[in-house]
Amino acid sequence: FFTESGRKPLAGKRALVTSGPTHEPIDPVRYIANRSSGKQGHAIAAALAALGADVTLVSGPTRLPDPPGCTVVAIETAREMLAACLAARDAAVPVDIAVCAAAVADWRVAGASDRKLKKDGGGPPALALTENPDILATLSQAGPRRPALVIGFAAETGDVVATATAKRARKGCDWIVANDVSLGTTTFGGTDNTVHIIRADGVESWPTMGKDAVGARLAEAIAAHVAD
Ligand code: CTP
Ligand code: CA
Repeated sequence: FFTESGRKPLAGKRALVTSGPTHEPIDPVRYIANRSSGKQGHAIAAALAALGADVTLVSGPTRLPDPPGCTVVAIETAREMLAACLAARDAAVPVDIAVCAAAVADWRVAGASDRKLKKDGGGPPALALTENPDILATLSQAGPRRPALVIGFAAETGDVVATATAKRARKGCDWIVANDVSLGTTTFGGTDNTVHIIRADGVESWPTMGKDAVGARLAEAIAAHVAD
């Protein structure tokens, strides 16, 4: 998929992609995490780079190799992911396209211990949780540094499209890629994905395909949109 001139369609565009889970510390040896593999976010980053974009991938801990052609920033917590994304957004060259595919932990432990918690005979510790910053909502806020196209994901159960449509409005992003993470589906940690692309002008449901294929098709949709 190249333009007539042979120039890659996203040449000269800067993209920011988040991927993977975040790890939220309980103490120096323990953390709260989720089942995200990072496969979908990494595939999107690779596909955008293949179309010529200058890609910064901000990723939580995964077992995946760095995607070719991307600048990778490794983080662990949601707060570190936000800081890395804001640094990328506020760099000299502005971000044109942001894709938030990370499964950011919604909560972190309030006042995580800097010493290892011990069984001291007083019973299990109570973990108080506090909400993490919302990276997608922050990047979606209006302002001179807002990327022209901000895309979020929505991991849902139940009425996936309706819930994700509401989420798109709440977050203020342009597109939402919604997927069904009910038990028995293969999405979380699996190789395939069944997604619905929710835009202001309607919903496009794609057939089940590999996460690499979803990444490639999404990158092409982004390139077509950016060319308009
Ligand atoms: N997201 C984010 N920062 C957070 C939480 C979510 O950037 N602290 C992003 C995800 O990367 C995804 C989108 O927001 O692109 C939606 O994530 P999701 O977990 O589906 O939505 P939440 O707003 O966290 O709502 P809930 O989990 O309660 O459904
Ligand atoms: Ca969430």
